Amino acid sequence: MPRRIYIFDTTLRDGEQSPGVSLMQHEKLEIARQLARLGVDVIEAGFPIASPGEAEAVKLIAEQVGTADGPVIAALARAVKQDIDVAGEALKPAKKKRIHTFIATSDIHMQYKLKMTREQVLEAAINAVKWARNYTDDVEFSAEDATRSDPEFLCQVFEAAIDAGATTINIPDTVGYALPHEFGQLVRTVVERVPNIHKVQFISVHCHNDLGLAVANSLAGIMAGANQVECTINGIGERAGNTSLEEVVMAIYCRHQVLDCYTNIRHDQIIRTSRLVSDLTGMPVQPNKAIVGANAFRHESGIHQHGVLSNPLTYEIIDPKVVGLPGSGIVLGKHSGRHALEAKLKELGYQLTKEQLNEVFKRFKELADRKKYITDADLESLVADTVHAVPADEVVYHLDYMHVVSGKGTVPTATVRIRKDGNELLASETGVGPIDAVYRTIAKLVEEPHRLVDFQVRSVGPGTDAVADVVVRVEDEQGNIFIGHGISPDTIEAATKAYLQAINRLAYYHRRRIPAPQRGGEV
Ligand code: KIV
Ligand code: ZN
Repeated sequence: MPRRIYIFDTTLRDGEQSPGVSLMQHEKLEIARQLARLGVDVIEAGFPIASPGEAEAVKLIAEQVGTADGPVIAALARAVKQDIDVAGEALKPAKKKRIHTFIATSDIHMQYKLKMTREQVLEAAINAVKWARNYTDDVEFSAEDATRSDPEFLCQVFEAAIDAGATTINIPDTVGYALPHEFGQLVRTVVERVPNIHKVQFISVHCHNDLGLAVANSLAGIMAGANQVECTINGIGERAGNTSLEEVVMAIYCRHQVLDCYTNIRHDQIIRTSRLVSDLTGMPVQPNKAIVGANAFRHESGIHQHGVLSNPLTYEIIDPKVVGLPGSGIVLGKHSGRHALEAKLKELGYQLTKEQLNEVFKRFKELADRKKYITDADLESLVADTVHAVPADEVVYHLDYMHVVSGKGTVPTATVRIRKDGNELLASETGVGPIDAVYRTIAKLVEEPHRLVDFQVRSVGPGTDAVADVVVRVEDEQGNIFIGHGISPDTIEAATKAYLQAINRLAYYHRRRIPAPQRGGEV
C-alpha cells in the first residue's frame, strides 16, 4: 500500500523569516485560506511569543481557518513555559491544534547559544512537551540542528520527548548542511534506535536549502521512513530558504511508483498559491524555478517545440494543467473585453471579486492603450499591483502629476504633485538619477516618517515596450516593513507608483491602527 505523506506548511512561520518579508494580518489570513484550499495537512501559522501582532495573527487563523474539516493549525514555541502558554492561548479557537516546541540538541548550539548542558536540554525538552500537553494532545517536538547533533544524544532526547507525550518528532536540518544519503541515514537511525518510535503519529523532516539540497534531503527522509514533510510555498525561508512545497509534492506525484507514497495536496491549486505568496511577500519567483517558475513549462528550442507539438511527453514530465497552468488560447489586447479578461484571469488561477475585477479591468485598458499584447506575466503584475493595494477609499496620497528632466549634461530633476485630503502638494528635487529625484521629491511631500530599505525593478517581457514591475519596501519608525508594487511600460512611473503604494500602506495601517506586520521573531 502506498504511504500517505503529510504536508506541514510553514510559509507563515519559517517562510516569513525570509529577509525582507513581513506580512500583515489580513495577508497572513489570505495565505492561510489558500493553503487550506491547497489541501495542506498542517499550517504552522506563526511563532506567537515573537510579538502581540504575531499572536493575534495566529489566533485569527485559528478562528477562521482552523475549522473541524480544515487543516491542523500549529504554533511554534521554544521549550519554555511562557512560549507554550502564549502559543496555547493563540491556538485556542482552532478545532485541531498543534503546539510545536523545539530546543537545539547539537553541541555547538547547546554550548554557544543555549549555554546549557545535555542534561538540562533533555529536561527542558521533557518539561516542554508535558506542559504543551495541557493545551492539546497534538504536540510536535523538534530537535533543532539535529543533523549536527550526536545521534546517540538525539535518539535519547526523542525517546524522552515521546515518553513525555510528543505525538510528532521532527528532524530538522536547520543549517542545510546534510547530504541526501547522510540525512536518509539519520532518519533511519532515529527509526531504528528510538525504542518507542512506534508511539508517534508522525516522523517529520524539516530541511533548509543552504546547499540547494532541501528537497533532495526531504525525499531521502521520506524513503527512510518519514511521513511528514515541513515545507514552504516557493521554498521561501531563512537564508536560502526551506524545502519547496511544490517541488517535493510534485516529485512525489511524478515519481510515486518509485517512492510508493502520495499526498493529499490539490495540485491544481499550486500555481495560484505560489502567485499569491509571491505577490504578498514581494518575493519574485525565479523564472527557471521548478514547477512554478515562468519558464518551467516553456520550450524555446525548435527541436523541443516540435517534439512537444507532436507529443508533450517528449519534453514534459508533468502536464502543466495538473499544477493549475492551462495551455492558454486567449491572447489579450486593446480590443479584449471584460469577459475575456475574466476568463483569462480564471485560467491563470485568480478568482477576483466583482470590485477587484472592475479595478483590474480599468488598469488593463490603460495598459492595453500603451502596449500591443498583454502577456500572462503583465496580468500577474497587474493583479499584484491592484488587488493587494490599499482599498481605493482609504488611499491617502494620490499622484496627480509627475515630470522628470534627465539626460546627459542635465541634473536629473523631478516635479511631483500629490493630492492629500483634498489639498494639492507640490515640490521639486534633484537626484543622482531620475528615479532618485522623484523619490526625494515624494519623501519631501509625505508626512509619515519612513526609510526606503529595498528597491527592485524587473522587466516583464523581452521588448522595449516590456512592462517594468517595481517592488519597494519602506520601513516606519517602529521597524515595520511595508511593500509597494508598481507596474507600467514607463519605468519611472512604475517606480513612482510602487513608492506611493508602500507609503499609502504605511499611512493606512497607521491611521487605522491595524497592527502592523511583524517579523516572525528570531529562531
Ligand atoms: O530550522 C529549524 O530548525 C526550525 C525549527 C524551529 C523546527 O525551523
Ligand atoms: Zn527551519
